[in-house]
Amino acid sequence: MPGKPLKPYTPLDHLCPFFTRFPLSFPLNILENTYPPKRVFDPFCGCGTTLLAASVTGHFVSGMDIHPVACAVSRAKLASATAEEVIAKAEQILETTPVNTQNKQNGFWNLCFHSSVYEGLLRLRERYLQGNLDQAEARLYGIVLGILHGPLQKGKYLSNDMPATFAPPQDLLSAHWQARGSKPPPYSLQRLIAEKARQLPILDAASGSGVVQENSFLRAEAPAAENKFDLIITSPPYYGLPNKNCGLWLRSWLLGDDEASASQSQELHHQSLTDYINDLGEVWKKAASFCRPGASLYLHFGKVHGSGAYSSLDVLHESVKRASTGWTVRSIDAVTTAAKFMARRNFASPSPPPEDEWRIQMLLNN
Ligand SMILES: C[S@@+](CC[C@H](N)C(=O)[O-])C[C@H]1O[C@@H](n2cnc3c(N)ncnc32)[C@H](O)[C@@H]1O
Repeated sequence: MPGKPLKPYTPLDHLCPFFTRFPLSFPLNILENTYPPKRVFDPFCGCGTTLLAASVTGHFVSGMDIHPVACAVSRAKLASATAEEVIAKAEQILETTPVNTQNKQNGFWNLCFHSSVYEGLLRLRERYLQGNLDQAEARLYGIVLGILHGPLQKGKYLSNDMPATFAPPQDLLSAHWQARGSKPPPYSLQRLIAEKARQLPILDAASGSGVVQENSFLRAEAPAAENKFDLIITSPPYYGLPNKNCGLWLRSWLLGDDEASASQSQELHHQSLTDYINDLGEVWKKAASFCRPGASLYLHFGKVHGSGAYSSLDVLHESVKRASTGWTVRSIDAVTTAAKFMARRNFASPSPPPEDEWRIQMLLNN
């Protein structure tokens, strides 16, 4: 499907703000020129950019991520459901799911969400905890995660005024709202869901299929020979940018996490560069065990500001050498890095911006 236009997929690509995503054009440019359909894998799938690109270009794709929010957003992107199915499902959940009466709105929550929105969110949270979501529900939760919080003026987020990309700590948010006397908007949850659902494309019959697994790649079991992958397109967490800095606690809460201990997931070690290089070596070893001989691994990789005086390419080469499992670096191209993590209005960004970024292709020797 060469030259597949990006535009129809932009609303789905932008379904939910997510730190450290790469542009849809990166996996799409690789996959639209790849025939016949391949088995594609992203072991650090984040908000599902590779998954969306593979699905719309007709490949089979599998994604893995350790973070529940990343997995929910990725599943929403792969879900095949019409807007009307999503809207009907939202109505059903909001009308029939019992609310846990112990979750009375108080303190922070009074300032964050209007009471009618909060009650609806509790019902959605309750339903999510029951599990076994169908396709319409998978799409629905991606939508609600996306509209859960953001700036007040835009009229498209459910929360009181806050950044969309990350959720600052509760005490900073409460102080911000109290200082400005700003109130949570009394929007209709159902209306916002319906508006968003209608903006999203339905993946057509020619789309590839896909699955998403919530797991640590470092602990995942390699697939059987017939299920190994031809292509990996991925971006592991950069050194100095662990998950806990990504401000996902409020979105994690919607998916049932305790607000105080939202998903501090295990991942690559960031205590020292040596630990990180070792873990990255394990990633390449694991990646080799997931792939067929001759497979390609495309990587978005770099370093963040303030993470030390080292070269990200040296880290890459050293980790590949330590893995010694047959990956050969084929090409390295510099990416023009946009300062993606600029300070958001009134709140310091939880993580520094990237200092350099690269697109790398590696090949698994036969
Ligand atoms: C750089 S982001 C990937 C972004 C993705 N390319 C996108 O466009 O959204 C790295 C992802 O790796 C995930 N992660 C961190 N440690 C992991 C592990 N051990 N196993 C699987 N995923 C992990 C993080 O939760 C995060 O979503």
